[in-house]
Amino acid sequence: MDFKLRPWTPADLDSLVKYGNNPNIAQNMADVFPHPYTQEKGMAFIQMASSATPPNILCIEVDGEAAGGIGLHPQGDIYRKNAEMGYWLAEPYWGKGIITKAIVQMVAYGFEHWDISRIFARPFGRNIGSQKALEKAGFTLEARLEKTFYKNGAYEDELIYAVRKKA
Ligand SMILES: CC(C)(COP(=O)(O)OP(=O)(O)OC[C@H]1O[C@@H](n2cnc3c(N)ncnc32)[C@H](O)[C@@H]1OP(=O)(O)O)[C@@H](O)C(=O)NCCC(=O)NCCS
Repeated sequence: MDFKLRPWTPADLDSLVKYGNNPNIAQNMADVFPHPYTQEKGMAFIQMASSATPPNILCIEVDGEAAGGIGLHPQGDIYRKNAEMGYWLAEPYWGKGIITKAIVQMVAYGFEHWDISRIFARPFGRNIGSQKALEKAGFTLEARLEKTFYKNGAYEDELIYAVRKKA
């Protein structure tokens, strides 16, 4: 299925809220991803995501609509050579290989635009879809931490996947 990564724009608000307002997505994300996903939260997100140059948070466009997001978050201090990746996709498009390809594209974009040597992602232990996508995109499981996340009233395992810049 065709998709493209491109900057977020204010015109994406309605589809962002339509697809983002989904507990099946929110339950696998950090609490910064809101539930319920309101218009106000959507506007604040789009404003934030449009503020950086080059943009580090991109929209996943499918069939002409904003159908997900993927972001790269460069870290500070002694983690300054690392960036964390996060992503989500509208539920109707799950299982079509979109996120695997989006991760590959975002890794190339990240190593091109930021002075980083490692990109990592931290899926929940129960998030098999995200783990498989990361593995297919070339990430390696570096660590499994037990019950470090606390989400929706329950402790969850944290998996650390990473990919290194080739020398
Ligand atoms: C996780 C998520 C991003 C996966 O996106 P996707 O585009 O469906 O992933 P892909 O189609 O690239 O799938 C990659 C692999 O995982 C498999 N997979 C996807 N979802 C799965 C699931 N729930 N259980 C088991 N395998 C799954 C796919 O079949 C595919 O493997 P295959 O090629 O061998 O068939 C999407 O389900 C999502 O947005 N979930 C909610 C938010 C989230 O979890 N974000 C990530 C936080 S770390």
